[in-house]
Amino acid sequence: MERPKNCIIAIFGASGDLTKRKLMPALFDLFRQDLLPEKFAILGVSRSNFSDDAYREKMLADVREYCEKSPVQNDKMQEFLKRIFYLSIDTKTPDDYTQLKRKLEELDTRFQLGENYIYYLATPPNLYDIIASSLGAQGLHRQGKDSGWKRIVVEKPFGYDLLSAVQLNKRLQKFFHEDQIYRIDHYLGKETVQNTLAFRFANGIFEPLWNRNYINRVEVTGVEHIGVENRGGYYDHAGALRDMVQNHLLQIVGLIAMESPPLYSADAVRNETVKVFQSLCPLKPEDVSRQVVRGQYGSSTIKGEAVPGYREEKNVAPDSRTETFVAMRFNIDNWRWGGVPFYIRTGKRMPTRVTEIVIHFKRTPHQLFRSQYTSYDRGNQLIIRIQPDEGILLKFGMKQPGAGFDIKEVNMDFHYSDLSDVYLPDAYERLLLDCILGDPTLYARSDAVESCWKFVTPILEAWENDPDIKIYGYPAGTWGPKESQGLLGDPREDWRYPCKNLANDGIYCEL
Ligand code: BG6
Repeated sequence: MERPKNCIIAIFGASGDLTKRKLMPALFDLFRQDLLPEKFAILGVSRSNFSDDAYREKMLADVREYCEKSPVQNDKMQEFLKRIFYLSIDTKTPDDYTQLKRKLEELDTRFQLGENYIYYLATPPNLYDIIASSLGAQGLHRQGKDSGWKRIVVEKPFGYDLLSAVQLNKRLQKFFHEDQIYRIDHYLGKETVQNTLAFRFANGIFEPLWNRNYINRVEVTGVEHIGVENRGGYYDHAGALRDMVQNHLLQIVGLIAMESPPLYSADAVRNETVKVFQSLCPLKPEDVSRQVVRGQYGSSTIKGEAVPGYREEKNVAPDSRTETFVAMRFNIDNWRWGGVPFYIRTGKRMPTRVTEIVIHFKRTPHQLFRSQYTSYDRGNQLIIRIQPDEGILLKFGMKQPGAGFDIKEVNMDFHYSDLSDVYLPDAYERLLLDCILGDPTLYARSDAVESCWKFVTPILEAWENDPDIKIYGYPAGTWGPKESQGLLGDPREDWRYPCKNLANDGIYCEL
């Protein structure tokens, strides 16, 4: 594998949660696999006061706590810490960026890093604008033959709705060219999400079936057993549609539904996913209550333990109408997918944590064995398990041994854990490395982000404008409002439930 070019990684929000939980452990994991450049420096930037040594000490403790892959070896860690530096500035004050410029130049000269800089914005999104423009005012966005490359990484949320997303893109693009902007969607960094590309386009047997002629519907589920934890302040203004659907789950839909790109390159792959987003059939206001079900978890008892309802969570309004669950049906208006419904479901406080794609194939046109009292009456299902227990499962009917022709459903099941030399890198590890290498394939492009907002914004508006659209309650630990089942239209069909409800009382309530 090509060793990346020397560079500085400047992390804004260096004393925050993302840095300690994800970024530093991922950088350390890359370092111990010798995947970082030969020469590099990491510069933590934030307002808190730390000396280089104090910051290193903090990073040491954080990496030890959050590095999940294997025990942190001391000698490697000491080597890694030597590359970490810290600068305290007020990122809201443009004048402070002269100090940043000096510090970057000093590190660059000291370690000969070729003026290649990555600015990672692990900050609240309201700072993106001021950071990008202050960097621009110092000329820190300029790149060229003699001045290295400059890249800026931003975390979601990329905007709050279509308008704010367009504005944010414009502000970032005022100084940084689109090629320099890396919008991170950590789902694209997940090994199994990337594997959907390999599964579809490295195998000859699935692609001929991958269309409206053979597929009945497609289901994408991304649910969690945790509640909003300590993120109530953010979540109560976001909700599940903005938090999970606009980005992660639609990105998965993009990979499932795209055409084969002519080559594996950032532009070719992203051109194809954008076409999918542009083909999403927008929902009219009157469709929203028919095609989207939103819910909010209420208190319940899970395995004997009392679990608070969403409105009792910290920093959540006691009369909040923010959704913690969304299930929806939509169509992709193109030749391949015409008439095939897509279903998305996400929620907090569900019975388990699972992200999976289910391809439901059509039933056989003729039910040869129906007179044999067989209970098997469904199409084949292909399940791509993104997490946990990453793998691929194909469900098909088989003759029950013995008299008659009773058909039973059986599994052909691949688990990543069965591979002897499996190492599933963390999503941030993969994405950070790609950014250092200058490969934006797995980052969201501005047109993709805007197209997804274009699809999602009418739903948000309908919810806001029409108080009659219900928000259903569901007890924590269950699969959400039963109304989500009604989206499927056919009483013989249901969502896939990888496990049962955990809450003691299965009573659904209307808020
Ligand atoms: C984040 C959302 O983007 O993704 C969180 O803000 C959610 O609310 C998380 O919990 C889920 O990520 P993962 O990788 O745990 O599935």
